[in-house]
Amino acid sequence: MVEEVVAAPASGKTRSGHSLGFIPQAGNSKPRRLSEIDDDIEERLPLPIGEFSRVLGGGVVPGSIVLICGDPGIGKSTLLLQTAIEMARKRVVLYISGEESVRQIKMRAARLLRRGDRRSMLRSSDGEEPGDMPDDLFLVTETSLDVMLEHIAEVKPNLLIVDSIQTTVLPEMGSSAGSVSQVRECASRLRELAKSSGISVFLIGHVTKEGAIAGPRVLEHIVDTVLYLEGDRFQSYRLLRSVKNRFGATSEVGVFEMSENGLVEITNPSEAFLAERMVNAPGSAIAVTMEGTRPLLVEIQGLTSATSFGNPRRTPNGVDFNRLLLIVAVLSRRVGLHLGEQDVFVNVVGGLKVDEPAADLAIAAALASSIRDLAVRADTVLIGEIGLSGELRMVGQMPTRLREAAKLGFKTAIVPRRLRRTEPWPEDIHIVEVRSVRDALEQTLLGESGRSMLRSSEGSKVAGEQGR
Ligand code: TYD
Ligand code: MG
Repeated sequence: MVEEVVAAPASGKTRSGHSLGFIPQAGNSKPRRLSEIDDDIEERLPLPIGEFSRVLGGGVVPGSIVLICGDPGIGKSTLLLQTAIEMARKRVVLYISGEESVRQIKMRAARLLRRGDRRSMLRSSDGEEPGDMPDDLFLVTETSLDVMLEHIAEVKPNLLIVDSIQTTVLPEMGSSAGSVSQVRECASRLRELAKSSGISVFLIGHVTKEGAIAGPRVLEHIVDTVLYLEGDRFQSYRLLRSVKNRFGATSEVGVFEMSENGLVEITNPSEAFLAERMVNAPGSAIAVTMEGTRPLLVEIQGLTSATSFGNPRRTPNGVDFNRLLLIVAVLSRRVGLHLGEQDVFVNVVGGLKVDEPAADLAIAAALASSIRDLAVRADTVLIGEIGLSGELRMVGQMPTRLREAAKLGFKTAIVPRRLRRTEPWPEDIHIVEVRSVRDALEQTLLGESGRSMLRSSEGSKVAGEQGR
């Protein structure tokens, strides 16, 4: 049980009695006709980092409050410091940290501005070399929200960054930093500040061990936008995902790589994710998933190996466990692959998480390829959701997926049979439409043995299918 202190309703005055001059007092709202309201209020401040901007829907809306959450050490402070440095060349930015001293932040900024990595994002458009410290970036280490508000009133920033919400406290509330009541009250105050002053606020929130965000979960309804920075700590790719956005599309994704000099944008993620692929090795298949509006080609690896002890294990890395169970069951029952005594491992390369059913077929192909020891054609992508009867089901946004595959040089796409021909499909890729997983695998696995795969597995000898 956690005691929750209820704070008195906040007013334009802070607890310490200082009035923020530029914040209008409460009570001046007035209903207006919809038709009379200007609709050009939503000009956005484009962010210097393109991927970041895109995830937000084309820039940050003044007066909005954005929460960025992620595991500790994933790169949240780095991303926002990079943004702050570039923004501060044109606007005033205030970076408040409750976690690091200003000297530590300065050292990190110096690291981000070093010329080591030529791909570094910190190169301003007007030809300035990286290395220049921006003029209008203000730093302060502070945890008390009251004092923060004084600093904000003094600096009057366009962009405010608070790192992190868990270290921010209202001392008079009495509860400890990071508790639900503190986090919620501090965020509400910051929202009030954003709405009334037009400052864009970025809040950093840590995800705790339990996965629920101590704070951010309870904050989701307070803020306008929730972004997650994800990735495998041992891999350099980072995905910035939008899960709530009052000013743009959700499930938009930006892809970065953590380098020596901070985060680098990956503008062509499919290429990056396929870079280390071993062509014609068994147990690998290419799926085309959609991350928001953007298609992403990812390599899915499967490995089967005889169970030596006890129950067979199913170990997914980057795909949903239950989805894997379903695919294994369909492969056993409908295709006749004996996975009953096999340990099954599935891995999505690059530390990505694929939760779209459209990747089902690629997962199935990777597993079939591994157990038969036959490679999947290297120039082929597989798209389709698998149903319980072993049928393939259509997935959304096919043209976009196919175009991306063609763009990356893939020659063939194995896809579900089209029932409605509503939108035209691209013609620069050979499309093989199939009904079932079994047909798809026959088309996909290399060699004569691929075709006879089904004949050789006794379990599949179902009457009526013998003649095929
Ligand atoms: P950080 O932004 O401090 O994480 P968070 O704020 O989410 O807790 O990121 C820290 C990690 O990133 C740290 O392990 C070091 C690494 N890193 C780099 O690899 N290159 C860099 O240029 C920087 C600044 C950090
Ligand atoms: Mg940090």
